[in-house]
Amino acid sequence: MPQPCGLMRLGVFILLTQSWRSSNFLLSLPVHSHKDDARDFWRLTWNTTETTAERLVEKLQTIGGEGLHLHLDLTAEGFVTLTSGKDFLQLEEVPGDSTFVRWEDLAGHLHGNLASYRPDLALDLELAPFLAGRTSTAEVGLFLLVSPTSKLWRFLPLSVRRVWTRLQNFRLHVMVHYPDDWQPSFWRRHLGSSYPALGGIHWCGAVNRFPALNPWLAERRPWDTYFNKVFAMIAIAEHQRYRWILSVDDDVILPPFALMSMLSIGQRADEANCFAALPLTQNGIPATELFATMWMQLEDRMRLFRCFSDCSGHFCNENGSLMTLCRPNGSRQSTSFVEVPDPWNEMEWYRTLSEQFEMRWWKNHPVAMNQTCMLQALEKGLKELPLYWFADFFDSQQLIVDDRFSYPYFANNVFLIRTDKYREVIQHSKCCFRTDEVTMNVLRHEQRSNLCFVRESFGIHPAWGNFGQDIKHSAEEETISWLKRMAAPVFNTLGV
Ligand SMILES: *[C@@H]1O[C@H](CO)[C@@H](O)[C@H](O)[C@H]1NC(C)=O
Ligand SMILES: *[C@@H]1O[C@H](CO)[C@@H](O)[C@H](O)[C@H]1NC(C)=O
Ligand SMILES: *[C@@H]1O[C@H](CO)[C@@H](O)[C@H](O)[C@H]1NC(C)=O
Ligand SMILES: *[C@@H]1O[C@H](CO)[C@@H](O)[C@H](O)[C@H]1NC(C)=O
Repeated sequence: MPQPCGLMRLGVFILLTQSWRSSNFLLSLPVHSHKDDARDFWRLTWNTTETTAERLVEKLQTIGGEGLHLHLDLTAEGFVTLTSGKDFLQLEEVPGDSTFVRWEDLAGHLHGNLASYRPDLALDLELAPFLAGRTSTAEVGLFLLVSPTSKLWRFLPLSVRRVWTRLQNFRLHVMVHYPDDWQPSFWRRHLGSSYPALGGIHWCGAVNRFPALNPWLAERRPWDTYFNKVFAMIAIAEHQRYRWILSVDDDVILPPFALMSMLSIGQRADEANCFAALPLTQNGIPATELFATMWMQLEDRMRLFRCFSDCSGHFCNENGSLMTLCRPNGSRQSTSFVEVPDPWNEMEWYRTLSEQFEMRWWKNHPVAMNQTCMLQALEKGLKELPLYWFADFFDSQQLIVDDRFSYPYFANNVFLIRTDKYREVIQHSKCCFRTDEVTMNVLRHEQRSNLCFVRESFGIHPAWGNFGQDIKHSAEEETISWLKRMAAPVFNTLGV
């Protein structure tokens, strides 16, 4: 019978004494439609056994109007009263204004509430709509980390579509923390015949749903949407028995052939004792020189390396702050110089950094710290994009293996890693500070494993965030306009 839970902070965990697999679960929310008086709310009830959130919303749309008004405070600071039991969760109305939610965002809200209050049930219900009739032999989880700040990820379906005709060893999981990004209809429309590649959309905007992976970190950063995504990635990969995780940030785009290479390289990467395998991206740390060597015209490459070697080694953004954050050990100066190799030699550069600085600064590189060089790398990379977007699949993939720590640090905005290795990162005693990137590198050093690059790959990550959102945004817009120019008829339907 209903047991009132009293006033609870939104997202506070309900601890269940027993593990519960729902065969019959009801979620209900107070709502009113465009036809009702605002004070006349009724209960929208989702019987999770009977239907999916998406189908429920489709049915509701016959009411007409653009959506529903939820009598809940949807801000993170809001309080929610809820009544709950083993097989139901009833969110009580909040006095005052209601929040309007459009039909296309409503399923996201339903899943979001479920993930907030019943993380024990949420994963099964997120996976359910995508499991019907499928025998999955997938071994790679392709995880897209979506945030509202980037739009580049909207081109991923085009790559997935082409790869799916050749390779079906993977499933795509979309990790979101913002209700508007919960868009199954976007994926259905743009994945087309490759829609079965979609393994699930997952809510990562509430409290950490999988705290058992690292209770200490989950407790310190319960609302951190980045770690919520990382924990969920590992939990889903384990649940679905994916041997590898391919993690892709929302501001990275891989042409079809490169996505194909990344998805098929796992076995070879294991054999080569790779800690992680990275695609070649134009401003990758540390892949930028490999990208230039592999894909840029000689003259462009020489000009870019000259940009690197002409840097002062005294990196500043407009506020002059980057270098003050990273002075050498014990130095009292607010800024410092790093000897810049001329002619450019990245291995020498990384050696100097690793001798003088703590590990977290080893990612400093002109391509990320000097705006001129960053934009030059983008411009030259985009020049090559049309050719490689349409490139054919390669029959074999080769790895470039760094087994000497010539590249002592890698940034983890796009990478392939074995699932059990990623779990080790998250469970590492030093995990983690702002993100898991440094810990990932620490573990690689501890394990003395290799850093690998997928030779037959090509990726564009328009900009690093060091020069502010405006620069990053315009670099991304530039990339999007190239992508649109290449295949206007398809791209115009993507709503970007
Ligand atoms: C929920 O749906 C299932 C399957 O249709 C049904 O057996 C069950 O009675 C429903 N529960 C409620 C409370 O309506
Ligand atoms: C950035 O690179 C350009 C070209 O190499 C150089 O002229 C400029 O001084 C660099 N800026 C800094 C802060 O290093
Ligand atoms: C600087 O600090 C790092 C980490 O604390 C250490 O590994 C490194 O040896 C130090 N370098 C120097 C030159 O003292
Ligand atoms: C520089 O500082 C100003 C004022 O504090 C801030 O608004 C701006 O975002 C900063 N720029 C960058 C690139 O950090």
